Amino acid sequence: MYTSKIAGMGSYVPENVVTNDDLSKRMDTNDAWIQERTGIKERRHIKDGDGNTTATMGVKAARIAIERAGITKDDIDFIVFATLSPDYYFPGCGVQVQEMLDIATCPALDVRNQCSGFIYALSVADQFIKTGMYKNVLVIGSENHSGGLDFTTRGRSVSVIFGDGAGAAVVTRANDNEGGILSTHLHSEGKYALELSLKGPSTNYWVPQIIEDNPQEDIPYYPYMNGQFVFKNAVVRFAEVIQEGLKANNLQVSDIDMLIPHQANLRISQFIQKKFGLSNDQVYNNIQHYGNTTAASIPIALTEAWENGKIKEGDTVVLAAFGSGFTWASAIMKW
Ligand code: ACO
Repeated sequence: MYTSKIAGMGSYVPENVVTNDDLSKRMDTNDAWIQERTGIKERRHIKDGDGNTTATMGVKAARIAIERAGITKDDIDFIVFATLSPDYYFPGCGVQVQEMLDIATCPALDVRNQCSGFIYALSVADQFIKTGMYKNVLVIGSENHSGGLDFTTRGRSVSVIFGDGAGAAVVTRANDNEGGILSTHLHSEGKYALELSLKGPSTNYWVPQIIEDNPQEDIPYYPYMNGQFVFKNAVVRFAEVIQEGLKANNLQVSDIDMLIPHQANLRISQFIQKKFGLSNDQVYNNIQHYGNTTAASIPIALTEAWENGKIKEGDTVVLAAFGSGFTWASAIMKW
């Protein structure tokens, strides 16, 4: 049995900064409401003509991760791409990345697990490496939310939260004594699927039918979120899945050097921090600047924490996520 570790990380966000005040010019909202409820000050949005899509942002993050891992694109054995906002209904973004990076015919897989997508993708990479099938797996989380949100007052409780961006990791076969990914823990609860969902366009909600059925309101091609219900479930599941990961590795909360929670809402992260009694140095948040970037939030935050020297060799790093599905997950790593 092999072990796996993250050998390189990278991230990319569009240049276009959209502040809460900018949003208040498009809908009935304000900076105080958004910051008080979510902690978000600004987010990045793709701008027409800047060339960014979910796949191209993923490629930009991936190129950095590959370089930092000290490998070349031809060393990549497998691409796992997590997103809820793919460029096309099909095929997935993974094959686009494979073509854009000019990697011969390596397999590519898309993971559709929303906010938990990056940890699910990391888990897939980890398993393929641990069985010995692959040596270098490129894991990407990328989202173009701004292209699919309702920026009128009707959509304000959802659209102010989300931002665009991408993060990537090269997961590599490691020697036993190097640490790396110790374990991953995955869960889902499909009975709450529609509590945070985007129904269409899909085979059940095709565009002409949507317009005919919903001329003015309740349009199912914008995301729906039962915000308070999501919040209540998130704080419980985040805590459970972190505890599960610690227990599986005989670790205590006090062993955590850095917790990187999915950047759903600063209030959720703060709730977890308080529950576990962690200091500000033990939890990394950057939602203030990027909003919630769903599958991209953990790799963007992990990259930034590493770049800022907040994670050192030998640290115990915990990743945790909760989101649409519902799905939730954690990963425990020795950096
Ligand atoms: N600006 C101003 N007012 C707003 C806005 C806005 N952007 N959005 C909603 N409001 C108004 C509502 O219309 C409502 O007004 P009313 O009382 O006159 O009817 C009032 O504010 C309260 O609305 P709620 O939706 O009840 O607001 P709530 O306090 O629940 O906050 C929020 C909404 C921030 C989404 C909260 O429910 C939340 O944080 N939920 C957690 C879900 C989450 O974080 N999701 C992120 C994505 S999922 C994930 O990644 C896990």
